[in-house]
Amino acid sequence: MSIHFLHLLLLAGLVAVAKSTCNVCNTVNNLTCYSTTQVQACDANNLPTGDAYDCPTGYVCVSGTSGVLCEPEATASSTADCQDCNTCDSTLTFACTSTNTFALCLGTSTPQASVGTCADGYVCNINDSQICGLSPNVSATCSYADDSTTTTTTAATTTTTSTPSTSNAATYCAAVQQTGRFKVGDYTASTCRQYIDCFLLNGVWTGHKYTCPGQLYFSPTANLCVSSLPSNCYTPSSTTTTTTATPTVSNPSAYCAMMQTQDYFPVGTNPSSTCRQYIYCFLLNGSWLGHRYTCPGSLYWNSSSKTCVSTLPSTCSASVTSLSLNGVDLD
Ligand SMILES: *[C@@H]1O[C@H](CO)[C@@H](O)[C@H](O)[C@H]1NC(C)=O
Ligand SMILES: *[C@@H]1O[C@H](CO)[C@@H](O)[C@H](O)[C@H]1NC(C)=O
Ligand SMILES: *[C@@H]1O[C@H](CO)[C@@H](O)[C@H](O)[C@H]1NC(C)=O
Ligand SMILES: *[C@@H]1O[C@H](CO)[C@@H](O)[C@H](O)[C@H]1NC(C)=O
Ligand SMILES: *[C@@H]1O[C@H](CO)[C@@H](O)[C@H](O)[C@H]1NC(C)=O
Repeated sequence: MSIHFLHLLLLAGLVAVAKSTCNVCNTVNNLTCYSTTQVQACDANNLPTGDAYDCPTGYVCVSGTSGVLCEPEATASSTADCQDCNTCDSTLTFACTSTNTFALCLGTSTPQASVGTCADGYVCNINDSQICGLSPNVSATCSYADDSTTTTTTAATTTTTSTPSTSNAATYCAAVQQTGRFKVGDYTASTCRQYIDCFLLNGVWTGHKYTCPGQLYFSPTANLCVSSLPSNCYTPSSTTTTTTATPTVSNPSAYCAMMQTQDYFPVGTNPSSTCRQYIYCFLLNGSWLGHRYTCPGSLYWNSSSKTCVSTLPSTCSASVTSLSLNGVDLD
């Protein structure tokens, strides 16, 4: 750890108000937290733009009344942004699992083995009554940084096509408020070879972005351009998803064999049909069996309370395009 980390970051009296927002621009300094440990600049329309920059090691990104700042993890870990991913919402209905996917919680505080997807252009937000809200009006609860592990192709494209400007380096330094060199990113082919040099000029934190000469990489531990590949650098590889034939909701016993629990489960997302139905699973003489029921009148099935309710549940909103539970596609 370098000596410049000894510089104090915290402004006296700074109070973080909005716990765990993410991708929401803070108008105090026009920055947003891109992840728990990364900062991103916002454009004139108050929308996140351009590359994300890592806070220094041991620091987390906090959006508060003094703007977005990198603060020491030791004191700010609980107030860091972007911590609501994979957390069930207050109605225990769903949890966002990436910027555009979610899982059912089924009345528990744990996301269940379930995959729901948002329509194109929509993002999952833990406080959205429709689960998926239209971007950019609604911001994603999960960090786009975490999407890179599942949607590697998108991440690779984003990383390589954006050419950051030096003004981004300046906004990064405004958040870091430390002199020193900082890594730009971990992508071997591009950002891993760059660094930002932050300094104080006439009382204003500013900085420049540099690319290491030749084939050198920036080492965050040595604070220098080096010839051997630093351990933080990686080359994204594309992943393939295999889907296997699964039991359907039209075969409740096969469905229940997948659930392996005596309980009530949802059938689908169609407001005029499957949203009003549920399957009861039970074990009889060693075999899982199930029965499919329809709520009385015009009631809908609430997967969290496991009761029939009069309000259309969020899982049935038009912005939800698909939903599966324990590998079974819901209709
Ligand atoms: C933030 O952006 C707004 C709108 O573009 C601008 O008026 C304001 O001066 C900016 N604030 C800072 C601290 O850059
Ligand atoms: C979002 O939801 C969480 C958990 O349900 C809650 O603690 C938080 O206050 C909400 N945030 C906003 C901005 O409504
Ligand atoms: C998104 O926000 C903009 C600006 O506030 C507004 O004009 C627009 O109608 C909103 N769109 C939706 C779908 O809410
Ligand atoms: C339960 O299973 C046993 C062994 O397979 C069988 O002999 C018995 O008849 C079954 N009972 C019922 C009620 O199906
Ligand atoms: C479903 O049940 C949960 C838990 O009781 C409740 O918070 C939520 O509001 C219900 N949703 C609807 C649409 O009734």
